[in-house]
Amino acid sequence: MEIFLDTANIEEIKEILSWGVMRGLTTNQKIFLNEKGVNFETQVKKILDLVDGPVSIEAPACDAEGIIKAAREYAKWNKKKVVIKIPMLANGDGIKAAYTLEKEGIKTNVTAMMNVNQTMLAAAAGATYASLFFNRIRDGGVDPIEVVKQSRAFIDQGDYKTKLIVGSIRKPNDVIEIASANPHVITIPYKIMKQMPFHEKTVETLKEFDKAWEEFLKAEKKC
Ligand code: E4P
Repeated sequence: MEIFLDTANIEEIKEILSWGVMRGLTTNQKIFLNEKGVNFETQVKKILDLVDGPVSIEAPACDAEGIIKAAREYAKWNKKKVVIKIPMLANGDGIKAAYTLEKEGIKTNVTAMMNVNQTMLAAAAGATYASLFFNRIRDGGVDPIEVVKQSRAFIDQGDYKTKLIVGSIRKPNDVIEIASANPHVITIPYKIMKQMPFHEKTVETLKEFDKAWEEFLKAEKKC
């Protein structure tokens, strides 16, 4: 299971890259809105220079033609790293776009997915990634863990190349829950990532050890 970062902020990316834990990056239109004032192309190119792995950027069009056109343009920025996030449109146009782009060697990430039917279609169409939105599934009254488990089982049984990404994370414990369902990737917002090293019992334990070390140093035999 790999960890991706869910952000478009350069400082956040630099900080988490320095931890050595992230293997890729995801963004969406709301994430870019947080970076108000930047130019999309310039910002994506900065991100591509930093991240040594797949970078998902959304083609926010509402039909297959629009998605394909935007995707072909974005892919020119770095065909190896750029992954085109494609909305799971209700009329099937997203699936059609993913199928067309993958045949051209452009990587896709079918996104905003909420159930196993959608995973089946994304995998069968040959998408490189398919993104399930954990908390938004739960908001709809469905157990997201079951959706992740069944989606992963479908992919494994059919031997599809598609990697399942799970996003829409609101608290550190979501990451633990999601890991138990074994997706290929969990994409984590910076705010949550920053909370993950913390555990109150770890802090308590380290205080105890620090105190013991001070006592040890006071009593240490000097040579
Ligand atoms: C994942 O790829 C998405 O960018 C993201 O996790 C969506 O999360 P949200 O429910 O916080 O919008």
